[in-house]
Amino acid sequence: MEICEDTKSLSPTIFEDAKNDREKFWENQAACLHWFSPWDRVLDWNPPYAQWFLSGKLNACYNCVDRHQTTQSRHKAALIWEGERGEKLTLTYEDLYIEVNKFANVLKSLKIQKGDKVAIYLPMICEAIVAMLSCARIGAVHTVVFGGFSHDALKDRIHDSDAKLVITSDGGFRKGKHIFLKESCDRALCECPSVKNVLVIRHTHNTVSMKEGRDHWYHELKEKVSPECPPVLMDAEDELFILYTSGTTGKPKGIVHTTGGYLVGATMTMRWVFDVKSTDVYWCTADIGWITGHSYVVYGPLSNGLTQVIYEGAFDFPEQDRVWQIIEKYKVSIFYTSPTAIRTFMKWGDAWLKKHDLSSLRMLGTVGEAINQEAWNWYYKNVGNNNCPIADTWWQTETGSIMIAPFYGHTPLKPASATQPMPGIEIACVNDVGDFENAGYLAITSPWPSMLRGIHKDPKRYEETYWKKWDGNFYFTGDGAKIDEDGYFWLQGRVDDVINVSGHRLSTSELESALTEYHGIVEAAAIAVNHEIKGQGIVCFVTVRDGHVHDENEETKIKQHIVNKIGALARPEKIIFILELPKTRSGKIMRRLLRDIAEGRILGDTSTLFNHEALEQIKGKYKDENEK
Ligand code: WTA
Repeated sequence: MEICEDTKSLSPTIFEDAKNDREKFWENQAACLHWFSPWDRVLDWNPPYAQWFLSGKLNACYNCVDRHQTTQSRHKAALIWEGERGEKLTLTYEDLYIEVNKFANVLKSLKIQKGDKVAIYLPMICEAIVAMLSCARIGAVHTVVFGGFSHDALKDRIHDSDAKLVITSDGGFRKGKHIFLKESCDRALCECPSVKNVLVIRHTHNTVSMKEGRDHWYHELKEKVSPECPPVLMDAEDELFILYTSGTTGKPKGIVHTTGGYLVGATMTMRWVFDVKSTDVYWCTADIGWITGHSYVVYGPLSNGLTQVIYEGAFDFPEQDRVWQIIEKYKVSIFYTSPTAIRTFMKWGDAWLKKHDLSSLRMLGTVGEAINQEAWNWYYKNVGNNNCPIADTWWQTETGSIMIAPFYGHTPLKPASATQPMPGIEIACVNDVGDFENAGYLAITSPWPSMLRGIHKDPKRYEETYWKKWDGNFYFTGDGAKIDEDGYFWLQGRVDDVINVSGHRLSTSELESALTEYHGIVEAAAIAVNHEIKGQGIVCFVTVRDGHVHDENEETKIKQHIVNKIGALARPEKIIFILELPKTRSGKIMRRLLRDIAEGRILGDTSTLFNHEALEQIKGKYKDENEK
């Protein structure tokens, strides 16, 4: 089946249809995929556990690759890859089919079977996408770890997922420098007994050490396998992937997605939001290490038979017009990026855009955090030349696909609002006791096909994090929102201890436990402060052991320690050394007072504060730091 060019799903009655009979509606949407055998029930909802399309059999890779082999899509480009140094590689859907079959057979030759977990730690290269699809083809569960994460973060994720195989490369390129992925991988693997084999893609031609019996070059194994690997029939509820995301505790959560419902969500929202046509050239700048990379670089675009651009490298390499150059060169028609990226482009200036013809663009999107009005206006005027709609899309790793966004051609835009829920998605603002209000916690009030099915190995945490607040009735998103008189949603940011840096989630406790591992630090509190480019930046308040001798580079060293423990995106803006953290009588750190100080606000309620004198010292210290 080709992309539904004139799809009925774009009918204006779609919202009504979905409201009138939600299950029937989703059943109709699921019919857009290829199923080896149909489901016998649409939904089994046993709060907070949902199953969709029960007993239906399908394969996600088949839907993204095989079914395009019998249509005109076969000979069109699926992936147009550009490397940072200008290298280019195009894979048609036929090429993708050949690559995926071989890759899947290599996985099998390493004894990977249905249900096995495979960690993928790669740069943005075609093989990363091929690796994910190949896992899906044989029923292995991939867990992609962002290539910018440190060896420690990789180790934690491999541990928790019990991955048997890691797929990595001899490196990557960023800002003209080598990224040493294999080395990070080797360090992580010292403590990962579950990993039996490492598959290494040759990309940078860096010399790397290969451990005898454990490490294998992909290009060597590829020569030895047969070219055909039949897709495994997967149950709709078989796991497709695990993706780790930060929660409110130090331990990342392995969000589990299954095959059928997830693919229905990713495929259909791709059409509804971007109204994709077979002539489109689409570019989503997300890395495959994030959910946006999963749903809107891999599964959504490919199941729709789209042509897309992928780019490995920095936006400002060699100069600050790289993005515009790529759009012009490949005639990109749909561009999907983050508010942080937009603010960065804004800062670099309009002159870089003016050098390029961006007239191929017809549609723009954003994701990851609320977009501010100024950035929206700039994006609309300068990138979209005042005639491309902007889809501000709200969703999460847990939701699997876009939840709130304008429905292409039907939802009038309001700049900086994500607008309204997608058809078939029921969302409300809810107060503490579960009443619907015009402002409050953003809650999803009925199950949806691409919802997470759980947290890997931790059902209790799943129940408590997402469902306990309203006794299993509604899903708690962790975001606050307001609804205006037209029913439009305005996202207000997180209501929990999650910091959103450049659209990436980090938990305060993950940061704090990393800080206290640093020699000499006794206690730490990490907070978010407004940041012009990143949306939010991290400021850390730390107390040190008595007698600890400060060395003059201590702040830099602590920042580097955080980068080593978590990754570069977690690098704090500031480390502030204080004598005591503000606490309640029961010893709870009052982060909100630290936030008030950092934002220069009048302090909120201090009635529960135990150590008032600490606050005065912190205020003074913060002021000194700012004046530095
Ligand atoms: C935030 C990314 C406002 C939000 C797909 C959410 C947004 C978290 C938007 C999920 C948006 C994402 N407007 N806030 N358009 N999109 N967020 O799991 O706080 O990396 O809960 O998924 O990002 O981040 P995640």
